[in-house]
Amino acid sequence: MLKVICVCGARPNFMKIAPLVAAFKKTGRIQTVIVHTGQHYDERMSQLFFKDLGIPEPDINLEVGSGTHAGQTAEIMRRFEPVVIEQRPDWVIVVGDVNSTIACALVAVKLGVKVAHVEAGLRSFDRTMPEEINRLLTDSISDLLLVSEPSGVENLRREGVADEKVHFVGNVMIDTLMKNRARADASRILEEMKLSPKRYAVVTLHRPSNVDDAGTLGSILTAFETIAREMAIVFPMHPRTRKNIAAMGLGERLEAIGGLHTPEPLGYLDFLKLMAESALVLTDSGGIQEETTILGVPCLTLRENTERPVTISEGTNRLTGPQAASILQAYAEVKSAGLQKSRRPELWDGQAAERIASIFAALA
Ligand code: UD1
Repeated sequence: MLKVICVCGARPNFMKIAPLVAAFKKTGRIQTVIVHTGQHYDERMSQLFFKDLGIPEPDINLEVGSGTHAGQTAEIMRRFEPVVIEQRPDWVIVVGDVNSTIACALVAVKLGVKVAHVEAGLRSFDRTMPEEINRLLTDSISDLLLVSEPSGVENLRREGVADEKVHFVGNVMIDTLMKNRARADASRILEEMKLSPKRYAVVTLHRPSNVDDAGTLGSILTAFETIAREMAIVFPMHPRTRKNIAAMGLGERLEAIGGLHTPEPLGYLDFLKLMAESALVLTDSGGIQEETTILGVPCLTLRENTERPVTISEGTNRLTGPQAASILQAYAEVKSAGLQKSRRPELWDGQAAERIASIFAALA
C-alpha cells in the first residue's frame, strides 16, 4: 500500500483533489490522507465544496486562516511539519498554485518525502503574481510534475526539468466538471435569481492586481456600468473583493448599477449551472478560463496574461486587461461573433485523475 497525503487549502483546490481522492480509492493500492490547511475557512469558500463534490471530510485540518503571504505560508509550514513526521507518507501531493501548495511542498521535501505537483508547468511569466512565484518554486522542488496542457510540458523542458519527471496527464478540474455536469443542470439557481438563459453575464474578480487598487477596480466598474445596460450581471463576490470595495468606498457606485447582483460566493453546482447558461463570463480566475473553454461560453479574462494559453489557442478565452475600453471592445466583439467555436484541449477528457492514479499505483 502506498501512502499519500493529498493537500488542499483554498477554494480552487477542492475541485482538483475530488477526482484524485476518488481515483486513488478505486485502485485499492493507495491510502490517502486528506490535509486541509484552512487557508480558506468560510463555509461558502470551503465546506460547501466538500458537500457539493462528495469529498470525504479532511482527516486533518491545520486551521491556519488568513494572514500576510509570509505569515500564512510560514504558519502552514509550521503546522504541516509535525503531520508529515507523524504520518510518514510516501508522497505528498499538492495541487495548483496557492500558498498552501508551496508551503506543504517545501515542508515535505525538507523531510525527504517525495512531492508530486498536479497542474505543474503553467507560467504567466508575470512574477508580480503571487501564484507565479508559488508555481515556479513548487515545480523546482517536485519529484513528479503532472501537467494539464502542452504549454506546461514546454515550460518545464525549457527550465531544464528532466523528461522522466514530467507526465502530461490532462486536467483534473475538467474531470470534476464532466462528472458533475448533469447534477449541475438540475440546479435551480437561474429560477432563484430570476435569470433567463444566455441573457446575463457572470463576473468573478479577486486578484490583487484587479481588486487592491481603486483606480483599476473603478475602471472595471465603468465597463460593468455599460454592459449592465444590455444584460444582467451576476457577480458572486469573493470575500477579499467585498472587503476592498467597502474599504475603497466603491460600494455605492456598485449598488447604483441596475441589473448587477452581488450574491455571496456560490457552491460548485450552482456556479457551474450559472456559467453554462450565461452569455459570457468576465473573470480573473485561472480555473474559470478552463471551465468556459469546455462549456463553450465566451470568456473575457481581465488580466494582461494567462498561464493557461490553451484556453486562448483552442478555447473561448481572450485577454482584455482591466481597462474599461478594452473590456468593452472585447465585449462588443463577442456579441457580434455569435456562437463561438472551441476545441477540447488534448486530454481534457475526464480521465486525468485516472491517469495520475495509474502512475501512483505503479509505484505501490
Ligand atoms: C487565494 C489564492 C489564489 C486563488 C484564490 C481563490 C494564494 C496566494 N492565493 O487567494 O491563487 O485564486 O485563493 O479564491 O494562495 N478570506 C475570507 N474567507 C476565507 C478566505 C479568505 O474572508 O475563507 C478573505 C480574508 O480577508 C483574506 C483574503 O480573503 O485575507 C484573502 O485570502 P487568501 O487565502 O490570502 O487569498 P485569496 O485572495 O483567497
